[in-house]
Amino acid sequence: MTKKKNIIYQTNKIIIMEKVLENKVAIITGAGSGIGKATATLFAKEGARVVVSDIDEKNGNNAVEEIKRNGGQAFFIKADSSKPEDNQALVEQTVKHFGGLDIAVNNAGIGGPLSATGDYPIDGWQKVIAINLSGILRNALSDSCHVGKGRKHHQRCFYSR
Ligand SMILES: NC(=O)c1ccc[n+]([C@@H]2O[C@H](COP(=O)([O-])OP(=O)(O)OC[C@H]3O[C@@H](n4cnc5c(N)ncnc54)[C@H](O)[C@@H]3O)[C@@H](O)[C@H]2O)c1
Repeated sequence: MTKKKNIIYQTNKIIIMEKVLENKVAIITGAGSGIGKATATLFAKEGARVVVSDIDEKNGNNAVEEIKRNGGQAFFIKADSSKPEDNQALVEQTVKHFGGLDIAVNNAGIGGPLSATGDYPIDGWQKVIAINLSGILRNALSDSCHVGKGRKHHQRCFYSR
């Protein structure tokens, strides 16, 4: 089997490296922009088959197009990390499409309203908790049923808090 290689050119020498995520399947939430998009792009470059997930359909699809233009494999699934049914569907669709799940980067999150403590809006607070805390746990619970199942290695989940 011929494996694709990363070739790094340095002064006077060429270093050839295997793609470290060759054929791994990765879900990255909040991958339509920022850290999530950068992670998805890097994972695809390293050979992973990437599920770009975000609540923002336009940005998510743009990220997928960019990855594909650079020779990577990716597709978009719209999911709201604060909704348990979306988390479950995200994992199920990933497993159906790519045949498994190896890596979950539960990155989706929001900054929340900026306000003086005394005026802080409780609905804004609850939204932050629903996405940044409860959403991460729900993602992890959905992922954990599938991550590494039938594969030779251990579970890998990442959380960006
Ligand atoms: N950038 C920083 O300095 C920093 C520092 C600490 C923690 N973080 C955390 O890292 C993560 C990424 O930060 P970033 O700077 O790349 O942010 P970003 O705003 O650029 O990207 C976040 C992405 O998450 C998506 N998103 C928001 N709510 C969602 C939801 N309910 N379901 C699914 N997707 C949703 C957004 O559409 C966006 O594409 C966030 O969780 C953030 O809280 C960032």
